[in-house]
Amino acid sequence: MAAKTVQWEQQGRIGRIQLSRPDKLNALDVAMLEELNRIVEAVSRDTRGVRAVVIEGEGRAFCAGADLKERRALHNSEQIRAGVAQIKAVFDALARLPQPTIAAMNGLALGGGLELALSCDFRYAVRGAMLGLTEVSLGIIPGAGGTQRLPRLIGAARAKELILTGRRITAEQAYDWGIVSGLADDREQLHAMCLQLANETLANAPLAVYQAKAAINRGAGTDLRTALAIETEEYEALLPTKDRAEALEAFHEKRPPRFSGE
Ligand code: COA
Repeated sequence: MAAKTVQWEQQGRIGRIQLSRPDKLNALDVAMLEELNRIVEAVSRDTRGVRAVVIEGEGRAFCAGADLKERRALHNSEQIRAGVAQIKAVFDALARLPQPTIAAMNGLALGGGLELALSCDFRYAVRGAMLGLTEVSLGIIPGAGGTQRLPRLIGAARAKELILTGRRITAEQAYDWGIVSGLADDREQLHAMCLQLANETLANAPLAVYQAKAAINRGAGTDLRTALAIETEEYEALLPTKDRAEALEAFHEKRPPRFSGE
């Protein structure tokens, strides 16, 4: 049986997804997208067991995007449409995970590879890694969220500068522009940074972290009035939780809270 090209591993409460097709720079073929989808679905159902997720690539790349050789073999618009819909749906399921997600960009991230990272809550990258939404150079546009998630992150003008030129930028410039929020010297440091971030979120009440993420995601792009109502809704879901009461008790007793996730 062929080795899995997407690996799942769990250390404590932190899940690790590794794209494992290094000889093809982790280009995403249909089998990988199916496996990624299966993993994301399982994670979405296990909000108590898995509380943060890190995604990385094996070898020198994070991900070189959609598998262009596989796509070349598609013969009609219907097949291509289905392929684009699949990658978009998988990334969207990832973006909708309740748990915090971190893209550990150990190397280049192009096209769908960068869109994958943009579907995560946080991106850290190794210095020198090349990033870009290069689709217009292939006669297409980013079709897995790139034209929408990038401008929401860095503004329309900068997103257009990257997308309309198809330019590749370094991790350093991506950091300056706010696409990645941390730079590492090597993979080891990248790992440590991701784990530290994940662990910082793990120290908090799990349901509060999930509701806060949901409030931000649901509110983004809506008018302020709607967004504030969303915030109230997400806040109210926490009122009956044991963890909210526990935090107040712990403060009163001058001790750290012991969160149960209830
Ligand atoms: N789809 C399928 N295979 C890909 C791929 C992709 N998107 N990107 C890289 N590969 C494969 C190459 O075909 C090669 O495999 P092969 O030797 O069997 O042909 C292997 O990965 C290594 O790539 P190679 O091009 O030899 O490495 P490089 O360091 O010279 O160049 C890139 C790296 C990423 C600049 C170059 O591979 C590239 O331009 N890839 C396409 C990236 C892209 O436009 N992605 C957007 C898709 S939406």
